[in-house]
Amino acid sequence: MKKITHAVIPVAGFGTRMLPLSKSVPKELLPLGNRPAIHYVVEEAIAAGIKHIVLVGHAQKSAIENYFDVNAELDNQLRQKDKDALADSLNWLPEDVTVSMIRQGKPLGLGHAVLAARPIIGEHDFAVLLPDVVLDPFTTDMTTDNLAFMIEAFTKDNHSQILVNEVADEDVHKYGIAQLRDANEIDQADTNASFKVVGFVEKPNLADAPSKLAVVGRYVFSNQIFDYLANTEASVGGEIQLTDAIDALISKYGVNVTTMRGDSYDAGDMRSYMQAFIYFAEQQLRGDAS
Ligand code: G1P
Repeated sequence: MKKITHAVIPVAGFGTRMLPLSKSVPKELLPLGNRPAIHYVVEEAIAAGIKHIVLVGHAQKSAIENYFDVNAELDNQLRQKDKDALADSLNWLPEDVTVSMIRQGKPLGLGHAVLAARPIIGEHDFAVLLPDVVLDPFTTDMTTDNLAFMIEAFTKDNHSQILVNEVADEDVHKYGIAQLRDANEIDQADTNASFKVVGFVEKPNLADAPSKLAVVGRYVFSNQIFDYLANTEASVGGEIQLTDAIDALISKYGVNVTTMRGDSYDAGDMRSYMQAFIYFAEQQLRGDAS
């Protein structure tokens, strides 16, 4: 049985929807409650069994890498002042987990960013987590739900897995949308379940959308996706789209979608980000009070 232990987190976007907050701070480091948004995404990956995380970024994103590294000087200062508990809380990353960063080079799209991680991922099958999407850690169990469920399913049948969730009509045009053989086979029970997918349409108009099942930003890929990405031409927006390579993977090997459990928050869009901040802060303040 092959276990998924590697994950790619693309962090190369400029975060134009989050200006001015993201002008000098990477959007991935903006707070949700008392942690930067990407903290929760990395915790989610680790809970699902990931040991090697590859961030794909550029020069202005090195603060993200620093967040996951030990700051020896700060650590020493805190311990000299008898603040050992605070120092320990900063070193929360488990010893057997590695976070590394590689640069994308040119901003040629999400597919290109995932392909940039190939030199580190090598021959492994791997997960991809888009950090704009933060899954609710308060009402789901990250060790069994969503990404963990997808990894388990992949381990059993070797089919790549893509997390989807139904979105409102007005949001369909913002996402990759799944086309199922039979859209009715999905019931909206709040549980993870896998279905065969026929294809995806990237950011369609509502009228052209094959369903309202949107790609949430969690993927488990067999290593073959790299070969398809390497052969994918730039399409929508002059970018190499991950969705195009997935379509190629579907026609050769078959791909499953997994329905999402719980809620997700878009931390890459100002309005949703503010709502997410309030939700995370409220949950944590409530936790402190009890
Ligand atoms: C990307 C994907 C899209 C997916 C979305 C989730 O788009 O291309 O299929 O639905 O993430 O957030 P982006 O939002 O990076 O334009």
